[in-house]
Amino acid sequence: MERTYLMIKPDAVQRGLVGDIISRFEKKGFKLVAMKFIRLTQEMAEKHYGEHADKPFFAGLVQYITSGPVVAMAWEGNDVVAVSREMMGATHPAKAAPGTIRGTYAVDIGRNVIHGSDSVASAEKELAIYFEEAEFVQWDRTVESWIV
Ligand code: TYD
Ligand code: MG
Repeated sequence: MERTYLMIKPDAVQRGLVGDIISRFEKKGFKLVAMKFIRLTQEMAEKHYGEHADKPFFAGLVQYITSGPVVAMAWEGNDVVAVSREMMGATHPAKAAPGTIRGTYAVDIGRNVIHGSDSVASAEKELAIYFEEAEFVQWDRTVESWIV
């Protein structure tokens, strides 16, 4: 089953949006398979955003993502990588469709509430930063088993 890495960013934790954000993915029918509440170290942040190391916004991005706790999660489901990116909305909140997470809650690209892997390959790389293999929980739904 496809997996993605989703992370509720420090601004969303501060604003009390954790429950709503998790709820959206639960209600969609995706399956939570790992979760931790952590504060990223400088090293983790630089690894996570390594592809942006040469961008002008990199230092500010690392400073922001380490500025407070985040919710690190692994979610499973059909096409979860692409579908969760759709649910998040565009990177720039001004372009994020109304109703998406960023479209609903964000106005600033530097405070855009949530991270989600942009491909299956990125998901594998990112999940490995945050989780040991043994931390992924295998479980079956006992209710609504028609949801994948
Ligand atoms: P990116 O990977 O392009 O976006 P996404 O989070 O949608 O995958 O960029 C990573 C984060 O960097 C983005 O969520 C917000 C921040 N960022 C800026 O602060 N300024 C920018 O111009 C860009 C492109 C991103
Ligand atoms: Mg990205």
